[in-house]
Amino acid sequence: MTAPTNHKKLVEWVEEFKQLCEPDAVEWADGSKEEYDRMIKIMVDAGLATQLNPEKRPNSYLFRSDPSDVARVENRTYIASKDKEFAGPTNNWIDPVELKETMRGLYKGCMKGRTMYVIPFSMGPVGSDIAKIGVQISDSPYVVINMQIMTRVGTKVLEVLGDDGEFIKCMHSVGKPLGPGEADNGKWPCAPIEQKYISHFPEERAIWSYGSGYGGNALLGKKCLALRIASAQARDEGWMAEHMLILGITNPAGVKRYIAAAFPSACGKTNLAMLIPTVPGWKVECIGDDIAWMKFGEDGQLYAINPEAGFFGVAPGTSMDSNPNAMHSLKENSIFTNVGLTEDKDVWWEEIGYDAPGKLIDWHGNEWEQDKAEKPAAHPNARFTAPAAQCPAIDPAWEDPKGVPISAFLFGGRRPSTIPLVNEAFNWNHGVFLGSIVGSEITAAALDLKAGTIRRDPFAMLPFCGYNMGDYFQHWINMNKNAADPEKLPNIYFVNWFRKSPEGKFMWPGYGENSRVLQWIFERCEGTASAQETPIGNLPTADAISRPDGVDESTMAELVALDKEGWLKEIEDIRTGHYPKFGDKLPPELAALLDDLESRLKAA
Ligand code: GTP
Ligand code: SPV
Ligand code: MN
Repeated sequence: MTAPTNHKKLVEWVEEFKQLCEPDAVEWADGSKEEYDRMIKIMVDAGLATQLNPEKRPNSYLFRSDPSDVARVENRTYIASKDKEFAGPTNNWIDPVELKETMRGLYKGCMKGRTMYVIPFSMGPVGSDIAKIGVQISDSPYVVINMQIMTRVGTKVLEVLGDDGEFIKCMHSVGKPLGPGEADNGKWPCAPIEQKYISHFPEERAIWSYGSGYGGNALLGKKCLALRIASAQARDEGWMAEHMLILGITNPAGVKRYIAAAFPSACGKTNLAMLIPTVPGWKVECIGDDIAWMKFGEDGQLYAINPEAGFFGVAPGTSMDSNPNAMHSLKENSIFTNVGLTEDKDVWWEEIGYDAPGKLIDWHGNEWEQDKAEKPAAHPNARFTAPAAQCPAIDPAWEDPKGVPISAFLFGGRRPSTIPLVNEAFNWNHGVFLGSIVGSEITAAALDLKAGTIRRDPFAMLPFCGYNMGDYFQHWINMNKNAADPEKLPNIYFVNWFRKSPEGKFMWPGYGENSRVLQWIFERCEGTASAQETPIGNLPTADAISRPDGVDESTMAELVALDKEGWLKEIEDIRTGHYPKFGDKLPPELAALLDDLESRLKAA
């Protein structure tokens, strides 16, 4: 197939990898429905896709991946810069020359028996000033259809790119060539763990991924481009690429504000992004559920776009009760990976809101019965891929190329103790301090980590920052220093929906009830809600946040109280285990803020 573009560098790049990977054919993706259906047919024929019941789930398909390929693999994810210090203490670094040599060895002939797809895509509305173009090479039809939902794919992108436009090179192979006459035959293609590489070359804005077909390892527009590469680019150019949802919130008087929130993987971004408020008269609308790109507008405010076009959401726990808008979003035209399959060919997962209707096929492909099962039917990181436009709560401005003005940033994580329900930073730098100390219980979103233990995940960017995290902290500080009007920067808050009682029960009901906290934040931005200054920040007064059913007065008081002992331990951990990692890259402002916090607490 001849290339549908005269972009010389693009054509040469494709040719280079064609020579190396030796595919049977090369095909340029156009993003059409015809192409989508053709990819599906290839995968149904290969025994990789199951069509779901068209009466229940129109145009939707189930995939089961290999057990070695169910989530991001952080210990196989690399930042390959010339200088090791560029990658910093929290990233895996390999010399780029060495890494390329290793990976060229793996790429050699890796697409034999397969087609090489060339997927031009835009992150962000095509043509927006904040948007970026990527081109992904992949030998996976599963990647092609997921990219069609998650990004804007196709011919229009090539038009905007023109003959010499800039694009980010995203190279991907599942790492499973086929011999003559060999077919996948129902086995999800990927390479063994020790051959998987998710590599980033931030200096040349390139990504090389090998050996995985799953999620953020393979859909390279998402974490690889929109966070790791984009964060490095954003630092150089004075903007922000963050692991944040974006929501619009409107009060009963019709005043609207936008909020962006960073929580680690599987800590509630999708849920918050499209929640249905329990507070009467309030409305929440969704711009995005995972990533925000932000630039200063001419009026000095920060404007955010969602670079994605779909949701790649955690399935388990999603129900009509917890997140009806997500359930509506995935009604049709969706892809399900590693969930359970019912006898009438619908999907099922743990906490979907009803019992499994009879026998299932679990994510391993085995028969599964709810009464007898010892293991879940869906993998804990099972996901749905659904078009954002199908979300009933999608914001009318979600594709506005200039973005939406942000009033508040939220940070959060899963913290069973110490961290209050909500805490307002005194000012920008104090907010940056709070972001830098985010900690969270580890979830199933990364394959190689032990779920349940707490780790520091600054700004929810630990696995996603494409350069030295110390320099990233400095970049946040600089956003204020370089702002034309620092007064117009968002207020910063720290939230925690995951406090537990001594019996191990969640003390706060979460989900839609989180709207009560959003209301307080909104009204703080308006200057109408009350707060009390404490050593850790401004906390809501005892009655500032209305109480949901089931939360008694003393529980509420505990949720918004200062836990002095807990915070002193927190400081100790930051001082000895967290901040020292960054050495002289730690901005002095943050070290000073830690000292200040300690003296305020000790004096309290
Ligand atoms: P990534 O897509 O991995 O970045 O995750 P995410 O941050 O979008 O997380 P998501 O909203 O998918 O939530 C992950 C899990 O947290 C689900 O099992 C939810 O049911 C649960 N969860 C979300 N919000 C809340 C909440 O307010 N309270 C409690 N207790 N659980 C929540
Ligand atoms: C995350 O892990 O934060 C995700 C899923 O959003 S993935 O796209 O696989 O990174
Ligand atoms: Mn995420």
